[in-house]
Amino acid sequence: MSKVSKKMTRIYSRLEKILLPFKTLVIIGSYWGDEGKGKIIDLVAPFYDAVARFSGGAGAGHTLITELLRKFIGHLIPCGVAHKIMCFLARGEFFDLARFIAEKADAFRAMDGKLPPIRIDRQSPLWTPWHPIYESYIEYVMGKKKVRTTGKAIGILSGFAKLRISLLVGHLFMDEKDLRALLRILYKVCKPNFDQMIEEGIIRKRDVPGPDKVAKYLLKMAPEIKDDVIDTSWALSNLWKRGKRILLEGAQAIGLDPQWGTYPYVTSGNCTAAGAALGTGLPPEATTNIMAVFKILPTRVGAGPFPSEVWDRDKAERWAEKHPELFEEGRTRNRFLEKKLAKINAGTATPAELCQYFMVLGDERGATTGRGRSIGLPDLQWLRYMIRINKPKFLALTRFDMLSGVRSIQVVTGYKLDGRRLKPDEMPEPWRLGEVEVITQTWRCWSEDISGCDSFDELPEGAQRFIKRLEKALGVPIVLVGTGAERDAVIVHPTA
Ligand code: IMP
Repeated sequence: MSKVSKKMTRIYSRLEKILLPFKTLVIIGSYWGDEGKGKIIDLVAPFYDAVARFSGGAGAGHTLITELLRKFIGHLIPCGVAHKIMCFLARGEFFDLARFIAEKADAFRAMDGKLPPIRIDRQSPLWTPWHPIYESYIEYVMGKKKVRTTGKAIGILSGFAKLRISLLVGHLFMDEKDLRALLRILYKVCKPNFDQMIEEGIIRKRDVPGPDKVAKYLLKMAPEIKDDVIDTSWALSNLWKRGKRILLEGAQAIGLDPQWGTYPYVTSGNCTAAGAALGTGLPPEATTNIMAVFKILPTRVGAGPFPSEVWDRDKAERWAEKHPELFEEGRTRNRFLEKKLAKINAGTATPAELCQYFMVLGDERGATTGRGRSIGLPDLQWLRYMIRINKPKFLALTRFDMLSGVRSIQVVTGYKLDGRRLKPDEMPEPWRLGEVEVITQTWRCWSEDISGCDSFDELPEGAQRFIKRLEKALGVPIVLVGTGAERDAVIVHPTA
C-alpha cells in the first residue's frame, strides 16, 4: 500500500480485520450489474497478491482512477490492475484480442508504464470479426424480443464455445494451417446466416471477411500477447497452494446470469459465485468466501423483467439521453434535484419524477451511450433469492447516500403471483416475472448528509436503523457501505 490519506488508513485497518482471515474473496453483483463492483474491488485489492477476472468479456466496464489520478476504463483487464497486483484473465472470460491490446496500452498510459504482469488463459474463447455480425443477425431475427446486448458478441463467444466450434486464444500459436482449418469450419457454420443477411440487405458482402483475411488479422496481433498466454488455472492453483491471497472478480450480476437470471434477457458468462470455480479452475473450496455487492436502488439497462422498476425502461433511457445538462455539476442540476426532492417528500412526485430524480442524483447512465439506467426500489425478495443461490458471507451496499434527504422509500418485501404470496426466496419463471405484484413497505430514511461519516456510529440514527433493518431482513452482514463517489467515501461496518 503506498501513500494513503488518514481516512483511508482507518478504512484499511478496519477492512483488514474482516478480510485477513480469508485467503480468497469472490466479488459478485446482486441485481442486473452496474452495482459498483469496480469501486469495491479497488478498495479491497491492496489485501491480495493476485486478481483474476473469471467471467464476462468486453461488455463489462469498470472506471478506475489510478494512483496518478488518471482515469482508466477496464473492460477485460481486472480492476485490480491499478494496485499493481498480478492480473489474470481466467478461462471463464471471453477474449477479444484487439480490444485487449488497446486496453493494455490505455492502462500502460494511465499507470506510467508500471503495469503488473497480465496473464491470459490459453483456452478462453476468442473473438473474431464474424462474432458481432452473427450477434446482430440473432438480434435482428428476435426483432421486438431482442436482448439489446452490449454489442460485444458475448452470447456468440459463449455459444460457439458450447457448440465446440470456437477458436481459443491458444489456437493462435498452433501450426498456421491448423488455425486456418478451424477458421474455415467456423466460417462455414456462419456463412448461411451471413448470406441471408446480405440477401436481406442488412449487411453488404464486403462487410464479411473471409477466413484468410481473419487469419491474417488475428495473426498480426498475436505476437503482442504470446508471452502472456498461459494455463491460468495452473498458475492460480499454485498461488493458492502457496497461501497467496487471490481476489476473484466477477462481472455483471445474477439477474444477467444465463441460468439464474432472467433468461433470455441475460448475458452469457457465469455471473454467480459458482462461476468463480468454473471460470478459474480453482477448486470450489477455494471460492467460498463471497461478497455480494448491491446498490441501494437497483438499475437495469437493455431488455428484460425488473419487478421493482419505478418507471418505463425505454422512457427512462431516452429521457436521460435528452437531458445531458442535468447530469453536469452546477445550478441547473441542483435546482432540478431540489424541486424533485420537494415533490417526492410531499408525496406528489410521479413514478417518472422519482426515477428521474435518482437517475440524475446517482449519475445513473451508461458511460458511453449516455442512456439512463432505469431505477428500481430496494428489492428484498430478489436479494433473498440472490443469497440463496450464492450464499455470500458479506454484503457490500453501494450508493447508500442516494437516500439522504428522502423522507421515506418503498421497499419491496415480497412478490405476489396469481394471488399467492411467494416464499421469501422463491423466484417465478422469468417469463412470468413481469406479472408479479410487488408487496412494499414504507421505510423511513434520514435527512442528514452522510458523505463525511467515518464509521457506522457516526451515521445518523435513521441511516443506522435502515442498515440494521436490511441486515435483519437478509440475514447477511453488510460490511461495507458506500457513502459517496470518492474512493474513501465508504464505511467499514465490522461484523462482530
Ligand atoms: P451482452 O452481455 O452484451 O450479451 O448483453 C446481454 C444483456 O446484459 C443486455 O441486456 C445488456 O444490457 C446486459 N449487460 C451486459 N453487460 C452489462 C453490464 O456490465 N452492466 C449492465 N448490463 C449489462
